[in-house]
Amino acid sequence: MGILVIEGETRLKGRVTISGAKNAVLAVLPATLLAEGETIIENSPGINDVRVMGQILAALGAEVKENGSGFKINPGRVYSQSPPLELVKKLRASSLLLGPLLARYGQAEIVMPGGCNIGPRPLDQHIKGLRALGAEVKIERGFIWARAKKLKGAPVYLDVTSVGATENIMMAACLAEGKTVIENAAKEPEIVDIANLLNAMGASVKGAGTDVIRIQGVKHLRGARHTIIPDRIEAGTFMIAAAATRGEVTIENVIPEHLEPVIAKLREAGARVEVGEDSIKVTGCEGTCQPLDIKTLPYPGFPTDLQSPMTALLTTAAGTSIIKENIFENRFRHVDEFKRMGAQIKVEGRTAVVEGVDFLSGARVRATDLRAGAALIIAALMARGETIIQGTEHIDRGYENITGKFRALGAHIRRED
Ligand code: EPZ
Repeated sequence: MGILVIEGETRLKGRVTISGAKNAVLAVLPATLLAEGETIIENSPGINDVRVMGQILAALGAEVKENGSGFKINPGRVYSQSPPLELVKKLRASSLLLGPLLARYGQAEIVMPGGCNIGPRPLDQHIKGLRALGAEVKIERGFIWARAKKLKGAPVYLDVTSVGATENIMMAACLAEGKTVIENAAKEPEIVDIANLLNAMGASVKGAGTDVIRIQGVKHLRGARHTIIPDRIEAGTFMIAAAATRGEVTIENVIPEHLEPVIAKLREAGARVEVGEDSIKVTGCEGTCQPLDIKTLPYPGFPTDLQSPMTALLTTAAGTSIIKENIFENRFRHVDEFKRMGAQIKVEGRTAVVEGVDFLSGARVRATDLRAGAALIIAALMARGETIIQGTEHIDRGYENITGKFRALGAHIRRED
């Protein structure tokens, strides 16, 4: 259990390069099970969740070679479709193995990944979609048990615009007989990234990135080579940190159109945002930031994963901000930690009302989930005095070398056991 020690009142300055997208690679790795042959994945971030997913594929029997920035994966010798309990428990995204295992091997047995700090995380839409494709899916003794002799394409309407369910159904449908149409599909850029890999493998996936995705099943898929897109959530985290600390930071290796809601909101807050071809320069708010109304929504709305970092910025805005969390049931656990630092926030259901205060004060706080951890780093850089953040294991799940990247921008941040 590590801690981070951070000195406050630091204006971030310089350049930071963004890593590959966690939420793309956590679906791309399971997708490699669909191919008869080796797939090469490049620009994968060196983070714990990705390491665990690689370990799960190896535990199933796949040949997994990892080098500095990627993987070579060949599922030729896969002999098991029941990933080990202790690894699945560590990784919520293990549910994304269901579709590929079912489509390739006709079966899958996965322990129900636990809920986490942001809500129960049900899988009913994943199950609805796989059943529509003809799979028999049962939940027994805390396991999801799925069987299908041969999947058959079918129309699937998602009651909830679920990223994971869209990905699972899309991957399963690639090897189903006939045509699948997913309606009310999620439109996140990570879904487009996975669809690009599937098509490179020989699949026929059309419409990814819109709310209707059409998949024509094929008999076989072959290995391919794929470069993961940059992580828009990591990029947004550093953009918000630059504005919140009134610094001047150029974020490199980004796809600007993936960050439109963040660019718009930071400009509304009074930061200067200059958009380049594959970089974004953020110059912090002159004086204090303006208060904002934030509503988290499925892409292309404001991303729920940046709600807590943006809340950190708004704790010292010049007025009252209203934040509505429309995606997850319980994603305000960072609020209590901000209040220990002097923030004035009231939570009613899915709405947080943030009264801007003059300054935050350093304190001992705890990261409750990955994005809340990043948000606490931002608050600590803004605050007067020293902050100690416990629970760094959450942060390391999803941010590659986060202390090194912040230190390179001038932050006084160090790890201690
Ligand atoms: C993905 O989670 C991301 N994780 C999350 O990032 C992200 O916050 C989320 O999408 C929303 O953008 C990965 O891609 C690995 P959902 P996912 O299914 O797929 C409800 C991070 O910090 N729902 O789109 O699990 C669900 O309860 C993580 O990087 C159902 O009701 O999210 C939630 O309220 C956190 N039934 C809403 O939909 C289902 O079957 C959105 O969930 C599935 C989901």
